[in-house]
Amino acid sequence: MVNKIRSCVLISGNGSNLRSLIKSSRDYNFPIKIQLIISNNPNAKGLRFAKQYSIPYKFFPSDNKEKFERNSLFEIKKRKIKFLCLAGFMKILSKNFIKTFGYKIVNIHPSLLPKYKGLNTHKRVLKSREKYSGCTVHLVTPKLDSGKIILQKKTLIDKNETENSLKTKILKQEHKLYPQSIISVFK
Ligand code: GRF
Repeated sequence: MVNKIRSCVLISGNGSNLRSLIKSSRDYNFPIKIQLIISNNPNAKGLRFAKQYSIPYKFFPSDNKEKFERNSLFEIKKRKIKFLCLAGFMKILSKNFIKTFGYKIVNIHPSLLPKYKGLNTHKRVLKSREKYSGCTVHLVTPKLDSGKIILQKKTLIDKNETENSLKTKILKQEHKLYPQSIISVFK
């Protein structure tokens, strides 16, 4: 693919999804190229992948959200970014940010949306004695975890499932689902 879409990934933590996106994006036919990584956490472990793969990265504190968004948009525009992926990014983007950016933004969430939006997903899923959980990639709107669903993957919950085992199991699925979803966005 000659014209890959210039993209940016926003992270706050471990960055295992970031890593899977970087790996996929190195395939010739994958639709996006990651040109920028933004973290709102200076200690985000995921930043090590930016360094490892020599991708430009920025840290902006997000305690002042308006300033975070202004700084991020400046970098995003400067680099002609036309697609954003949220990968464990723990802030809700404002309506103004989404509108000003003007292109698609996607997010991955570790539940079968619209069920279990928000934090502590696995804990709540187990407490409700669900038979299944999973992960979802969806478009980002100003409403938390509520945009149009792109792809979803269902996972069976085992009898002795713990929060940790479920997290690990679903995260493994996320690493496949996120790249697949991006391919389907640009099909
Ligand atoms: C993932 O479970 C993702 O679905 C959620 O936050 C977690 C991030 O994990 N939004 P990582 O930073 O990609 O390892």
